[in-house]
Amino acid sequence: MTTGKFLSAAILCLVLGTALGDDVLEGNYNVTAFCTAVKTGTNLGSIVSCDYYYVCTSTGPVKTSCTSGYAFSLATGSCTPVGQANCYYGLENPCLGKTGQSWVPVTGTCNQYYYCLDGVNKGQGSCKGTQSFDKISQQCVYGNCNPALVDSSDEPSLQSVCEVVPAGKYFGDTINCQKWNYCQADGTLQTSDCTTAYDVQNNVCGFDTGNVCSRVTETELGTASLECTTKGAMKPNDNVCGSYYVCNGNSLVSYDCAYGYYFDDTKNDCLPRKTATPVTGCNRCQFATTTWVNAVNSTSCGTYYYCNNGKATLQTCQEDYYFNEAQQGCVPTANESAFNTYVSSNGACAGATVNSSPTEANGGSTTAEGGATTAEGGATPAPTTETPEPTTGTTKNPNA
Ligand SMILES: *[C@@H]1O[C@H](CO)[C@@H](O)[C@H](O)[C@H]1NC(C)=O
Ligand SMILES: *[C@@H]1O[C@H](CO)[C@@H](O)[C@H](O)[C@H]1NC(C)=O
Ligand SMILES: *[C@@H]1O[C@H](CO)[C@@H](O)[C@H](O)[C@H]1NC(C)=O
Repeated sequence: MTTGKFLSAAILCLVLGTALGDDVLEGNYNVTAFCTAVKTGTNLGSIVSCDYYYVCTSTGPVKTSCTSGYAFSLATGSCTPVGQANCYYGLENPCLGKTGQSWVPVTGTCNQYYYCLDGVNKGQGSCKGTQSFDKISQQCVYGNCNPALVDSSDEPSLQSVCEVVPAGKYFGDTINCQKWNYCQADGTLQTSDCTTAYDVQNNVCGFDTGNVCSRVTETELGTASLECTTKGAMKPNDNVCGSYYVCNGNSLVSYDCAYGYYFDDTKNDCLPRKTATPVTGCNRCQFATTTWVNAVNSTSCGTYYYCNNGKATLQTCQEDYYFNEAQQGCVPTANESAFNTYVSSNGACAGATVNSSPTEANGGSTTAEGGATTAEGGATPAPTTETPEPTTGTTKNPNA
C-alpha cells in the first residue's frame, strides 16, 4: 500500500443518487432494506444529515429535504424546527436552538457528547467504559458501546434501528418474517412475533402469501452489510470509486483514496483516476472535471456517464463506437490502433477489445466524418460532435 489514502471524513460521499439503480446506503444503514420492512409511505431518518429524510415508496427510498431551519424528527416522523427535532447528524452547531445547559450526542459514536450552554458548543466529553450516551435523558447509561470500534472510522454508523424509524411505526424484520417491531418515544425497541407472518402493509398478522415476506433476506437490518471476519481483507465500495473497505476482524471500516485517486479492484491499491480500474458500476463522476466520463467497461469501452452535480446517468455508444473521455464523445473503433492506445492508457476500459460487439452486416453505411459523434437517444444531453471541450483545469472539490 502506498500513499494516497486517508481515513474518510467525507461521509456524504456514501450517499449517492439512485441513478444507477443502486441501493441507498449510509454506512451500515441500508435504507433500501429498511424500506422493505416498513409500510409504504413511511419516512425514515438519515444518519448523515438531519436536513433530509427518506420517503419509502413502492420502488424504494426517495431522498426528501426539510425546508431551511427544520430538521427531521423521529418523534413526529416529519420535519420540525431544528431546536425541537432532537436530531444531530451533520449539524455544524449541534447546540443550535438549545437554551440553558444541555448535552447532545456526538453522532457516529455511542459514547460521546457535547456540552451546550445557551446554544453554544462548550466542549466534548465521553461516557466511561462501555456506557453509552442517551440523547433523550442526556445521560450516560449502561450499555455495550465499544469505543474502540467506533473511534476507528468516520463512517456513518447505525447503532440502533430506532435511530431511523420514527416512534410508533410498526415494522417488520428482514431475517424473520414473523417478527414485528416498533420504537418507543425514548428510542427503545419493542418486538414480538406473529404465528406465521407479519404483514407490514396492513399491519396485521397474516400468512406468507404474495409479497408478504419478500423483505426477508439473509441480512439483518442495519448491521450486516459491514460485517466481516478476515482481518486486513479489502473490498471496494461498489458505489464510490474512490473509497474502499478494510476488515478490522469484525466489521468493514471505510477509507478514502486521496483526492483524484480510485481504488483499483485488481491491484487492491489506490491509483490515479485515469489509470485505475475501479469496480464495475462505481460512479466515475467522482473527481471528474468533464461532463461525460467513461463507465468501467472491460468488454467494449462503450458505456459512459453523464455527470450532473456528481450524479451519474449511464449511456451507451452506438455499435462499433467507444467512449473517449479526452474527446468527450463516442469515437469509431475503426481506427484500431487509436482504440488500443486508449484502452491501454485508460483503466476504465482495461481489457476491452474491438470485436467485443457484433458488427452490423450492412457494410458501407459508415459515414466519412471522423472524430466524435453524438451518442444515441436518451433523455440526458449527449456529447457534442464539435471539437473536444478544453479541460478546465479547475478541480471541483466534492467536500466544498
Ligand atoms: C440492501 O438491501 C437490499 C434489499 O434488501 C439488498 O438487495 C442489498 O443487497 C442490500 N445491500 C447491501 C450492501 O447490503
Ligand atoms: C459495455 O458496453 C456494452 C456496449 O458497448 C454493453 O453492452 C455492456 O453491457 C457493457 N458492459 C458493462 C459491464 O457495463
Ligand atoms: C488513428 O488515430 C490516430 C491517433 O488519434 C491518428 O494519428 C491516426 O491518423 C488515425 N488513423 C486513421 C486511419 O484515421
